[in-house]
Amino acid sequence: RHRIIIDTDPGQDDAVAILLALASPEEIEVLGITAVAGNVPLALTALNARKVCELAGRPDVKVFAGCDRPLGRELVTAEHVHGKTGLDGPVLPDPEMPLQDGHAVDFIIDTLRREPAGSVTLCPLGPLTNIAMAFEKAPDIMERVREIVLMGGAYFQVGNITPAAEFNIFVDPQAAKIVFASGVEITVMPLDVTHKALVTKARNDAFRAIGNRVGVAVAEMTDFFERFDKEKYGSEGAPLHDPCVTAYLIRPDLFAGRHINVEIETMSELTMGMTVADWWRVSGRAPNATFMGDVDADGFFTLLTERLARL
Ligand code: BDR
Ligand code: CA
Repeated sequence: RHRIIIDTDPGQDDAVAILLALASPEEIEVLGITAVAGNVPLALTALNARKVCELAGRPDVKVFAGCDRPLGRELVTAEHVHGKTGLDGPVLPDPEMPLQDGHAVDFIIDTLRREPAGSVTLCPLGPLTNIAMAFEKAPDIMERVREIVLMGGAYFQVGNITPAAEFNIFVDPQAAKIVFASGVEITVMPLDVTHKALVTKARNDAFRAIGNRVGVAVAEMTDFFERFDKEKYGSEGAPLHDPCVTAYLIRPDLFAGRHINVEIETMSELTMGMTVADWWRVSGRAPNATFMGDVDADGFFTLLTERLARL
């Protein structure tokens, strides 16, 4: 069983990733959720994370607020994708569950120091600011992390916020550089994978047909998402990025990739935040990440629909 901290900037797709984790207690134990600024400012991501926990019927989950801006840059947000609230689509009540006292970065550090070494997995679904801050503040925790499974980056399927960069890495390239240089085992779900996990009309209908509150809310989220994406990418549905991370923990066999070297561009104006992935292993640099390239999309959506029905 994976014991995880979800670091997130919800975000409709973040929300679905969280719901999938909370719907899968046999495979995943959520130790806590840490919010970071990304899709929308921190106050909203910390609010949305709690809305999602309550939607899942889990007001007991610990939610912490983390960094409100990237390490060395101004915050770039994505209301053009996620709406003003970050979670446009369904109307969810304001949460009654509290935000935990204390900073998300300290929660990450304390949890890794307290739990047995090699037992906690980090699942970043937004900019890597909180994770990098924790590694900088407490380098001793790095060797205690079991694994990082993150959504971010792009290589053959180029960027979505600039021509070269994917949003999560672009927002805080310095943080990404720290994480990719940490020596921790990393599994990456880049756009190359997530743009194969498309919410088609039939898949959206299947969410709605679950009939529970969660199914309807997820259908409304992916509806909102899709309206944006169809015009932009001309694909048959919107990519459902972040749930690839939690699905991987449950069914790694649905994904395929390569263990390769991945470096983060932090200098160039044109390619800032690019994940330079040595897919053909031409650089001679040591592999530091498993960069996924493929997903069994039907298997992924079947899993998701089946699990969301349990909530
Ligand atoms: C990533 O950026 C965010 O907008 C999504 O939530 C996802 O984490 C995709 O590039
Ligand atoms: Ca996200």
